[in-house]
Amino acid sequence: MTFRQGASGSDLIALLSESSGNYVSGEYISQRLGITRAAVWKKIAALKKEGYRIEASTKKGYRLDLSANPYGKSAIQSGLSTVRFGRTLEFHKTISSTNTVLKQLAANGAPEGAVVVADSQENGRGRLGRNWASAPGLGLWMSLLLKPQLHPSEVQTLTLAASVAVCRVLEPLKIPGLGIKWPNDIMVGNKKVCGILTELSAEAERVAWVILGIGINVNHQKQDFPKDIAAIATSVRLSTQNHDSVDRSVLASGLINEMEQVYDDYIRKGSAWIVDEWKKWNLTLGKRIRLLSQNGETTAVAQDITPDGKLVVKRDDGTISEILSGEISIRSV
Ligand code: BTN
Repeated sequence: MTFRQGASGSDLIALLSESSGNYVSGEYISQRLGITRAAVWKKIAALKKEGYRIEASTKKGYRLDLSANPYGKSAIQSGLSTVRFGRTLEFHKTISSTNTVLKQLAANGAPEGAVVVADSQENGRGRLGRNWASAPGLGLWMSLLLKPQLHPSEVQTLTLAASVAVCRVLEPLKIPGLGIKWPNDIMVGNKKVCGILTELSAEAERVAWVILGIGINVNHQKQDFPKDIAAIATSVRLSTQNHDSVDRSVLASGLINEMEQVYDDYIRKGSAWIVDEWKKWNLTLGKRIRLLSQNGETTAVAQDITPDGKLVVKRDDGTISEILSGEISIRSV
């Protein structure tokens, strides 16, 4: 592996990992990364703070304990295969909301692909003004900054793209019943495992930036969910066959990698493509649904999704309409 100029903590982790738990001399590290021995020592100290277990020996150098799975900036960045996404990344132990903090970074000129991840959020926000339970040690709470040249009305399809990326990254875990409830709730059967909050800044005709805030319930056990959502929420861990705990750093880097691929394809091929992809994960079309809006509740059949991401429904009185956003619930009949 070759390293870019200005080696980062994740470069050092990658180098130590190469030697499969054996010692690597400080001299060798300083040569490979092009930094001084003192700078190596500083980086090792910073990595230890992030939770890495690194043994230091004056004679032999440094050795990484591969059995520990820290969750932090270097761990996430060491799994990236991206060009832009996640190269600017902030990791916080506790934060108000990753969306709120990324919004401030966007206002200060953060580049496209900038990411904020937190172990816990004090004010995690959900769609429709709800709050989002974001306890420490359990979930992936992450926001990603995009600067697409889109009309504000096209942003809905970008949210669909994010839900496809989440499904793709969870696919290898072979979760039975994994899919998307329109527009972008990732479900396992009828329980929600991931939600996406999209926020944007735009002029009349053009988007300035979009923030995709993705919350995945990863290692929750049943008792970890607040009472009000316990019956309707699930986690990745509860949904896999072996119920093993999932490494959140690996999941985060996998998702950032997938997001860059999906986004680049979206920009190259247009949004109709993403709607087709979305349909492969669809849990909504062909089902009877309840439409929840400020005017009350109606029942309908979800018939299709338009190329710009609207849901086509046929109401019980026979009228057909297109719905841009809102809340639906899928009926069991
Ligand atoms: C929903 O209501 O389904 C959307 C939930 C989105 C939660 C995520 S967690 C990371 C990001 N930061 C927030 O405050 N919200 C989103």
